[in-house]
Amino acid sequence: MKRIVVLISGSGSNLQAIIDACQQQRINGSLAAVFSNKASAYGLVRAQEAGIPAHALSPQAFADREAFDRALMAEIDAYTPDVVVLAGYMRILSPAFVQHYAGKMLNIHPSLLPRYPGLHTHRQAIDNGDEEHGTSVHFVTEELDGGPVILQARVPIFADDSEEEVMARVQHQEHAIYPLVINWLVEGRLAMRDNAAWLDNVQLPAQGYAEE
Ligand code: GRF
Repeated sequence: MKRIVVLISGSGSNLQAIIDACQQQRINGSLAAVFSNKASAYGLVRAQEAGIPAHALSPQAFADREAFDRALMAEIDAYTPDVVVLAGYMRILSPAFVQHYAGKMLNIHPSLLPRYPGLHTHRQAIDNGDEEHGTSVHFVTEELDGGPVILQARVPIFADDSEEEVMARVQHQEHAIYPLVINWLVEGRLAMRDNAAWLDNVQLPAQGYAEE
């Protein structure tokens, strides 16, 4: 059984979707551990309730980003993961960390990348008068929210939508597509080569897999 480690910083609703998908065997792997850079992250409670080892590592205890990431890497590697999943992990990663897990680390970002990397994506989409928004699952590279996109899901933005309404609509899609993509990686169907994502040996277009 392939082993998955998940990194979180907050509520962990994506983590919950991954836990459920593993239990229902929609992901053909097992959750080896969950790590958070915040001890108060509710996702840690979700992990404990599912019987998954859950750890918090505080950045304040380390001299710099590199030292924190080295310690985190050592703790992650003790679980010998095949796949590392960022699920609302709100920390910039050091280059050494990214290189160490290259090709086996995924992130989910709440926008239709390459639009709106970084924070406050829902607010920006609304303020710009966008008629649609969405979420992207991508391989992690050294460029923030910049790695090859694997799969996106789109949602409409309606007039008078609040930021919370758009966020909830996006998260609903995240909970559907993230487990799907994680399973592709777990089953060895996904690869990152030549700074592109490949599914079943077919290079995916810049916006990821698209059903036309
Ligand atoms: C998600 O919307 C994800 O796209 C972003 O952070 C949010 C995490 O939410 N990276 P949760 O902790 O999974 O509920």
